[in-house]
Amino acid sequence: MGRENFVVGDLEFKNPLLLSGGIINESLIKKAIMLGVGAITLGTYAEKPFSSHPQPWVVQVENTNCYINAYGVRNSIFDKKGFIKEVIELARKHNVRVICSYVASTPGVSVRLVNTYEKLGCDVIEFNPTPLVMGCSQEKEQDIVSNEPEFVKLISSYIKVAVEQTQLPVSVKFPGILNDVVSAWNMFRKSGAIIAHLSNSIFPATIMDTNGKPLLGSPTGMGGLTGECIKPLVLAKIYTLAKNGEKNIIGTGGVTHPNDIRQFLLAGAKIVGFHSVIYKKGISVIKEFLESLNLPK
Ligand SMILES: Cc1cc2nc3c(=O)[nH]c(=O)nc-3n(C[C@H](O)[C@H](O)[C@H](O)COP(=O)(O)O)c2cc1C
Repeated sequence: MGRENFVVGDLEFKNPLLLSGGIINESLIKKAIMLGVGAITLGTYAEKPFSSHPQPWVVQVENTNCYINAYGVRNSIFDKKGFIKEVIELARKHNVRVICSYVASTPGVSVRLVNTYEKLGCDVIEFNPTPLVMGCSQEKEQDIVSNEPEFVKLISSYIKVAVEQTQLPVSVKFPGILNDVVSAWNMFRKSGAIIAHLSNSIFPATIMDTNGKPLLGSPTGMGGLTGECIKPLVLAKIYTLAKNGEKNIIGTGGVTHPNDIRQFLLAGAKIVGFHSVIYKKGISVIKEFLESLNLPK
């Protein structure tokens, strides 16, 4: 596998592995950089925390390597500036790309967030709309969930604002509830997005105890499904968008074995993200993944 393969939005990556954002503590993110991952996202930040519900935020689906989470957004970008700067400096030293993810309560509010990320030295600005419909705390989110075209319009309005603010490539992390990814991407691209990141967790999903009580701590008991169970769905979306001619695709969802990475690349992803697998295999899974890629030293 040659290095020329790992380019999205005109940015070169040293390898196609992306540690995708989630509940990962700060030392694990630094460890991932040291282990040689090609890119990281730090988790999504907003202007203020969006979610305040109690734990549990993540529950494993019994007898599977799948999880349902209602983590939401628990950190403000402004409180985390020091950490973000520190990680970006470390990533630079190791030639690791940093994808900076945000959501904001309105498109207008995102101006400050995008500017902050650009000043901090991010490589890619990623809009992650999923927290707007995650069942964690937002008002009126049910109205959006049930109306895909309206949600696509709303996401496009955020993208336009981001693109006006920054010279950096803007990525969109597709919410799992978007099924017509070609129509959605046509709108996002028209609004100025460069990178399609497929996808975030598949929402809504729930898990209950034997008395029918939802186990997640979110107000609705709902969350997003991740891990092995979603791989076929995500693969189909990557394949569909790539067949439609899109080259700048990041594929994330259910990657657990080295063969999954190969499949995502063959389906049309240029970069392959993983998150849930680290709950099972630990962060050192990066070594296993890197070795399997057999990259030139
Ligand atoms: C607990 C948890 C928290 C997450 N938080 C974020 C987040 O803050 N930002 C984001 O873009 N994706 C977030 N994700 C989604 C992952 O980055 C990834 O897209 C999703 O889990 C599918 O990949 P996987 O099957 O490899 O886990 C989160 C996932 C989990 C399980």
